[in-house]
Amino acid sequence: MRARILPPTLENLKLIALALKNGELVGLPTETVYGLAANGFNPVALAQVFETKERPTFDPLIVHVGPSQKSLAKLEQMKVVDPSVLSLSVRHQVEGLMQAFWPGPLTLILPKHPHVPDLVTSGLPSVGVRMPVHPVAQNLLEQLPFPLAAPSANRFGRISPTSAQAVADELGDRMDWILDGGPCGIGVESTILLIHPQVPEQIQLLRSGGVSLERLQTHLGFSISRQTPVGSSHAFAAPGMLESHYAPGKPFLLFPKPLDQITDSELICFFETLVQKFFKPLVWGVLLQKGAPEAFNRRLSLLTKIPLLIRSLSEAGDLKERAHRLFSEMRGLDATSAEILIAEPCAEENGLAQAISDRLTRASAHSRSRLALAK
Ligand code: TXA
Ligand code: MG
Repeated sequence: MRARILPPTLENLKLIALALKNGELVGLPTETVYGLAANGFNPVALAQVFETKERPTFDPLIVHVGPSQKSLAKLEQMKVVDPSVLSLSVRHQVEGLMQAFWPGPLTLILPKHPHVPDLVTSGLPSVGVRMPVHPVAQNLLEQLPFPLAAPSANRFGRISPTSAQAVADELGDRMDWILDGGPCGIGVESTILLIHPQVPEQIQLLRSGGVSLERLQTHLGFSISRQTPVGSSHAFAAPGMLESHYAPGKPFLLFPKPLDQITDSELICFFETLVQKFFKPLVWGVLLQKGAPEAFNRRLSLLTKIPLLIRSLSEAGDLKERAHRLFSEMRGLDATSAEILIAEPCAEENGLAQAISDRLTRASAHSRSRLALAK
């Protein structure tokens, strides 16, 4: 492996800052997931990000700024955002969102400053900006005279990494530096809001994530519309919101219902369809939302003779714990001997449940279409 995993000592942070100034790429811990960071103003380094991730250039990058940049005036001064095209009421709204949710897992799509290279924004007139709350990311950003463009540090379409080791497993043979900031606290990516430059009420949710829709709506005082993920043929209309994403390497499917709502005969029928459409696995991998793996093992072992590898996101069913562990458990199961992975869908619809459901739906999109079970 080429990459070195470094603890975030002051010395190492200086070394990493220098590497970024030299146009190198760095695995960066944030509170959501690890990013693959580069100088957001350096087109050569940015091109390297796309190449390293095998990411199509129609999928724009999020630009990360330090905690001292928390205003439109600062973002303009830093040559990231051009607030001149925003109406007065929208400026007010954006400042309010920054005060309430930054630093934190909220990305705002704002008019881009001409200085931001087109590679960052895939040629769009807007740029995604986020201020991470992770102390290692903040410390590094404050040392740099430029923002950091950082997509999640996974190969395109794969599971986002939530630990330094997961970054190394994904990209360790293609990059040199990974800063180890420990496991990511939140575990799913930032919520993305598209800000309409003129009309405050026309804010759109592009991706659910670490900040819940309810909290945003309570803050704003009106409801936010959602942009739904689209198939790859529409990729240019809604960059990066592809239906298939976050996918493990193995067939990955969802049970048709949460497991306390599904009957034994429905379960048997589901397993039979899987075997018919895919193959008969030697081991099933199962990811539960909640409860003890042993309890479900007892139920399932009466229905199928195929051995099961069962993991639970949170035995107590805590949503934060489930989001925090989602990607690492998906990654963990993908690395086991299980040949087909099946996850329980999220029964709830509030808070982080939306982000969890979104990631599970997209992770299973490819296998679902193979199964030809319209959903
Ligand atoms: O939590 C996060 O947001 C993580 C950490 C590393 O900060 N980053 C992340 O980046 O999830 P990435 O590249 O995996 O997802 C960025 C998504 C793009 O796929 C796209 O959907 C959206 O952000 N995006 C970025 N700029 C945009 C723009 N100008 N217009 C519309 N969507 C944009
Ligand atoms: Mg990503």
